Parts: sequence; structure tokens; C-alpha cells
Amino acid sequence: MTADTRATDPADHRYPPPAELAAHANVTQETLDTAAADPEAFWAEQAKRLTWGTEPTETLDWSNPPFAKWYADGTLNAAYNCADRHVENGLGDRVAIHFEGEPGDNRDITYAELTAEVCRAANGLASLGVKSGDRVAIYLPMIPEAVISMLACARLGAIHTVIFGGFSADALSTRINDCGVEVVITADGGYRRGSPSALKPAVDKALQSTPGVRQVVVVKRTGQDTEMAEGRDVWWDDVVATQPSEHTPEMFPAEHPLFVMYTSGSTGKPKGILHTTGGYLVGTTYTMWATYDLKPETDVYWCTADIGWITGHSYVTYGPLANAATQVLYEGTPDAPHKGRWWEVIDKYKVTILHTAPTAIRTFMKWGEEIPAKFDLSSLRMMGSVGEPINPEAYNWYHEHIGRGRCPIADTWWQTETGMHMIAPMPGIETAKPGSAMTPVPGVAVDVVDDEGHSLPNGESGLLVVTKPWPAMLRTLWGDDQRYIDTYWARFGDRYFAGDGAKKDEDGDIWLLGRVDDVMNVSGHRMSTAEIESSLVGHEAVAEAAVVGASDPTTGQAIVAFVILISGFEASDEMAAELRNHVGKDIGPIAKPRQVMIVDELPKTRSGKIMRRLLRDIAENRDIGDVTTLTDSTVMDSIAKGLKK
Ligand code: WT7
Repeated sequence: MTADTRATDPADHRYPPPAELAAHANVTQETLDTAAADPEAFWAEQAKRLTWGTEPTETLDWSNPPFAKWYADGTLNAAYNCADRHVENGLGDRVAIHFEGEPGDNRDITYAELTAEVCRAANGLASLGVKSGDRVAIYLPMIPEAVISMLACARLGAIHTVIFGGFSADALSTRINDCGVEVVITADGGYRRGSPSALKPAVDKALQSTPGVRQVVVVKRTGQDTEMAEGRDVWWDDVVATQPSEHTPEMFPAEHPLFVMYTSGSTGKPKGILHTTGGYLVGTTYTMWATYDLKPETDVYWCTADIGWITGHSYVTYGPLANAATQVLYEGTPDAPHKGRWWEVIDKYKVTILHTAPTAIRTFMKWGEEIPAKFDLSSLRMMGSVGEPINPEAYNWYHEHIGRGRCPIADTWWQTETGMHMIAPMPGIETAKPGSAMTPVPGVAVDVVDDEGHSLPNGESGLLVVTKPWPAMLRTLWGDDQRYIDTYWARFGDRYFAGDGAKKDEDGDIWLLGRVDDVMNVSGHRMSTAEIESSLVGHEAVAEAAVVGASDPTTGQAIVAFVILISGFEASDEMAAELRNHVGKDIGPIAKPRQVMIVDELPKTRSGKIMRRLLRDIAENRDIGDVTTLTDSTVMDSIAKGLKK
């Protein structure tokens, strides 16, 4: 087999594993076969990667589906597994985190230092009364304190809920209230695109409607002027830095909650995905090692995801640190102070494994291959992609211009709910196909089924299901068992319904085809159409709103909103801009529609359901460029045309 067949169709390129990697690969065909023969025995074996207080004798308890228990009679501490035990194993001097701030400040944190910092933070939080089972919200930029805070919570058995810095005050307070948060950890601000960007004011605003929050811990990052509420707000340096660097970790039952991560569902209310300790940590520790062929002694890993998303939880905090890996943590944006910043970081730290998202790759393609070409990227040996389907053109560009033709790419399919990689090519075994996530990871079983749940043969498209429980699966939705059952299990009984369309090709390899529900994927971020619609109808001028995800060359999908105004309000470019800003304020800048189109009517079925498919056609086919106000004009003509079909 040749290295790259350079077929005419970009999807027909093939990338077999590099011989050197295959010769020393962590995962072999034998691993896959063993895992497939007895997944439970396989996962019992993988539990040995962790250090337990009490070793589990049970693996899976599925006696009360869909409520799974994994390793239920074992006890452990997640923070101890990510820090202390590596020091005890003689790895105290190994760098855990190379932190690179956007303005160029940097700091290397060894495992010994990380352990001390986590202990100090745990002591600090404990001094504020934080204890096992309490909820702590983390709203921080990508700085070491983000990772340290997560581990400090885990150390105390407190449940963290990290909220992405791009969410607004309103989104923050909704999540804080739903989760019953008592303490918030934030910062004065962070650096973004070359200047300090404040975070604390959003917290102050959110806390006007969160009666349960009693304390706010503020990390000083930018030094900008920050209002501190007397009796409520305390500086990190005052509560944490002064604490002793020793703390005895308590061992918690494997099913003790570790964190809640909010994500968008197909209704307006965000879902609090609950992950617990033992199964989650086994699943992320194993897949971190398997999917990237991680060699913790020599690799320098860099995942560009923010800790505000599940990727940042599983593959920045828990997976890499439980494996004693060395990783880069970068605070800022790819274009500050110049468009080669990422490649400069790779060269500086000799990064060997890079994990990023298709939207970033497409942005770099747009900026031009001459930018990465100026940097030495020869340290790279393995790359990953996550968050949305990667189009073959972007895949091939990534392979050629970043991986320089040498590095296998793992296109990893998974979700906030799955906690860990579920479908991804094992780099030492599989010949990758650009655009396909390929096959389930060892110990995971998936299928593609039709609407009635019948397994489909190769060559056909349908719905993706997971056919067996897996250790890092969500346990429920925070405070809403019924919604957990209804969303994921009601449709196919004992099989998990992922909400994605998928195809099995002639070889049985899996291609993801996007969401089949009303969830959009914008730059790898999950957004619900209903959530944005309810924000829009919350504006005094809006009578009705319909939101669709239209395909976009850079962000994968883009949010396009169609709105009908209440009579008396004038359609104008200003109104469209105001509505965009309204959503930005309500939910966060990431939820701002690319376009708001003001229309007189919306296409509906006889039963009154909005025909989103038509709206999507319009949003995708028409060059809507600078025209944001469209009353009864061409948009409605296209709708009418579509309706006649
Ligand atoms: C949804 C989950 C996985 C962590 C980041 C996103 C889409 C994710 C892929 C991929 C095609 C993908 C799916 C999924 N998705 N990875 N490699 N190929 N689609 O987590 O926010 O929970 O979103 O992202 O539609 O259901 P999330």
C-alpha cells in the first residue's frame, strides 16, 4: 500500500499507519479482538491504569437500565490519580503543563508543583466550607488555575460545573441555578486577541439572580480594575496561595459525581450532563493513551480545546494528567499576535501530538499554507480532529501542511454525553479515510440502524446507536432522570440514541452525517435552535422566530434566524443587528446568528410545524451577504417555490 494514493476525489485518499508508529503502537489488532470478545473483561483490565483506594471487584452493573454503575464497589480520588500518584512514582520533576499565555508569558508546572497547587486550592476551598457533594462553578480563561480548580474540587468530592468564558451572564445564572452552585471560581479577566478581556463583570451580573451563591473566588490574571463584593468575593491569592501544600485525599465511591457539564439539547433548556468518577476516569485515561498512541515519557501533547467544553475536561484535564503526560496549555487565540502563533507554540515546545477542530483547520486553510510553512513542525507525529465532521479537503490539507505527510489523523467522534472517544481509528492499525471516523474504539460497540431500530447493512445510512454501556457514559441529566430516559433511551430501548446520522461504507467504516435533531454544530460548539428561538421571541419586537443551521465553509454550520416582527416594529438593518446582539447578550457571543432575516411569514406544514428544511435551503443557497432585511421578497419567493415542489 502506498502512503497516499493521491486519488482525484479527496475522499478517496488513503492513509495507512506509518511503519514506525505501527511497530510500537499502543493498540494492536489483538487488543481490538480481545476487547470485542469480552468488553466487560476488557474494561475490568483497563481499571488497573488507575490507583484505587479500594480495588473494584465489580465492573458493570446494568441491572437497572439505563442507569449504569461501573466499578461500583471501588473507591478512588480523581485528583490523586491525576497528580500525587505520579510524584509517588518518581515523576515529580516531569512537566505536567507548559503554560503559554497569550501575551507571551509562560510557566512550566511539574507534577510535584501541580500536586502542591491542587492541595493548596483544595485547602483554600475547604476553608470556605466547600465539601463533598457541593457544587462549584468554574468560569475561567485557559490558565493553569482552571485545571487546578477542577482537580481541587475533585479532590474534595465537590462537583464542578465549568462554564465556557464565551457564555453571557444570563447563561451563567441559568446554569448556576439549575446546578445549585454555592461557590464560583472566576478571574478578573483573560487575554484575548491581544488585550485583556474582563470576566468578572459577567459574574457580578449573573449573581444578581443566583440566591444560592455565597462566595466568589477571583484569580488575578490581567490585573484590570475589578469590583469585589464585600463578604462575598475573595482573591485566589488570599485564600489559596497562603494554604499548606499538603492535603490528604479522601477516597470516594466510583459512582461519586465528578462533574456536570451543560450542553444544548433539542429544547430550549440546557441539559446538565452528569459524569461520575471511576468509569469516566477509566474511559478517558484509556482512550487518551489508545487513540493518540500516547507515550507519556516522550510525547508533548497539545489539545487546543477550552476547558469550558467536554474536550477540555476529558482531553486537557483528566485524560492527559491521569496518564502523567506533558501538555501545552495555551490561553489565547490562533491569530494573536500573528497568524502563525500555533505553529510557533508547536516549534517552541516540540509538540508531538496536536488535537484540534475542523473549524480551526479550515480557518488556517483560508489564511494560507505559507504561514505554517515558515515554522518547524517536524516534532509532530500524531494529530487529532474533534467536534464535527471533517471534510476531506480540510483533512488532506491538515495531513499535508501541518502533519507534513507524516502524521496519522484520528478523527474522533464522541459527545459531552459519552465522556470519551467512541469512534476513532487506532493509529497503528487502521488505514484512515479522510472524512470517516472509521471504527469504534476498543471496548465500544456501535451500530447504524433504521428508524425502527433494525441494523443496516454496509453501504447504507441511518441513525447511530451505541449498543453496549461504556464506562464514561453519562449517568443521568442533573435533576432530570426522566429527560435522560426520554432523550437517549426511549427510542431504541437498550441502545443509546446519539442524535447523529451515520453511514456504514462498503467496508463497514463509519461516516458521521451530522445531527438528526434540532441541534446545530457551529465551530464544533453545540447550539440548540430552540434555545436561540426562545431568546429571540424574548425580544419585545419579535412575534415569531425560526432558527436553522446553514452550512458554512469555515464554521461547519452557521446560525441563521428568520423572524417575524410584531406589528408596529419596522424591519431594518438596525433591527436585524439589534436582534443579533440581543442573542449575544442573552446566551453569549458564540450564539449570535450569522444572519437575522426579517420575514412576513414562515413556511409551515398544515399542522403548523415550521418547515426548517426549506429555511435551511434558503439560507444555504442564496447569497445573503449584506442583505439582512428581507420582507416578502426573494426569500419568500424561494419559500413559495419550495412549497410547490
Ligand atoms: C456532537 C457532540 C466530542 C467533543 C466535542 C463536541 C458532533 C463530534 C464529531 C466527529 C462528526 C462530530 C456530533 C455529536 N461531533 N465529533 N469527529 N465527526 N461529528 O461535543 O458538544 O457534545 O457535540 O458533535 O454531532 O453528536 P458536543
